[in-house]
Amino acid sequence: SASIEVDISKVAPGACVSYKWRGKPLFIKHRTQADIDFEANTPLSSLRDPETPEQRTVNPEWLVVIGICTHLGCVPIPNSGDWAGGFYCPCHGSHYDNVGRARKGPAPLNLEVPPYKFMSNTLIMVG
Ligand code: FES
Repeated sequence: SASIEVDISKVAPGACVSYKWRGKPLFIKHRTQADIDFEANTPLSSLRDPETPEQRTVNPEWLVVIGICTHLGCVPIPNSGDWAGGFYCPCHGSHYDNVGRARKGPAPLNLEVPPYKFMSNTLIMVG
């Protein structure tokens, strides 16, 4: 079906789990308080695709993104790269921060946030 439900109750702070959604990799990352605090004050003027963490999350503890690099479509590696708790694409060296924003390397745009909603505190419906 077009939507999937993901039980996030066992995803520890800092962990990032992978699913498939509509044939694409989907990452659900449990942001730590340190992750949240670290990106709270990043100036939008320093971003190539300016979006606030609030624009990219429903609940700041949870990041939901499509795991496809916006450069040429490789799958980035969670919890890797120069931004702690972020994502690194090894194909050509793009770094994303812990809310999936493009920070360094050739990726022009942030990782895409799919449509999703919280069905409860522990259940996310994507799509
Ligand atoms: Fe990710 Fe090129 S596809 S850096």
